[in-house]
Amino acid sequence: MKITVINGTEKHGVTYRLKESFLDCFRDSAQITEFYLPKDCPNFCAGCTVCFLNDEHKCKDAEYIQKIERAMIITQCLGAGGKSTAKDIRDSLSWWGISDIRVCSFKLMSDINWNNIPEKKRLAMTGSLKKAAQKLLAVDYSRPAHTKLATKMKFYIIRMMQTGLGKQDPEYTDYKYWKANGWIDKKRPWKK
Ligand SMILES: Cc1cc2nc3c(=O)[nH]c(=O)nc-3n(C[C@H](O)[C@H](O)[C@H](O)COP(=O)(O)O)c2cc1C
Repeated sequence: MKITVINGTEKHGVTYRLKESFLDCFRDSAQITEFYLPKDCPNFCAGCTVCFLNDEHKCKDAEYIQKIERAMIITQCLGAGGKSTAKDIRDSLSWWGISDIRVCSFKLMSDINWNNIPEKKRLAMTGSLKKAAQKLLAVDYSRPAHTKLATKMKFYIIRMMQTGLGKQDPEYTDYKYWKANGWIDKKRPWKK
């Protein structure tokens, strides 16, 4: 199993410790690659549209783009904002075609410094992450991830749009990408 971790900050704080306790369950069985923002992807998308008008490899940040099949979002905050943050990330992942998105969101309700958080609270958080990890460890990774109907619907909406755009301009980069992948024809990303 391959795990790619995108750490939202380089700080070794609460989120870092929660993530570490989650990853501990996979250290023996997975190949783990970690990225730390902003160090490992220092630039925001500039909205230049090169990726779909010209060539995705010419994106100024192409070297940072990763392939994801399943996702686990870990967020925490003092009291409010964690759930909506996770929802935003979930929404983007879902439109990228990822069906299996899991969320662990915590409210600290005490202190934002790991050492000052009551042990009971820390154990409750790490315990729930370990439970989530066990479920992920039980997945058969030799089989492709299940794709939900909602994700397939999103694919067909975009496919219809790309087919229309391709009729107007067969040289349109995004259409050519869909065509090259066979998605305008009979191929589907969820069928290996
Ligand atoms: C500048 C700043 C603003 C924050 N604002 C909020 C907030 O509006 N709501 C909230 O629940 N937590 C807030 N927090 C707490 C963080 O969400 C988080 O719990 C805290 O930074 C500990 O996590 P970390 O050690 O992983 O950074 C804030 C923290 C900082 C440093």
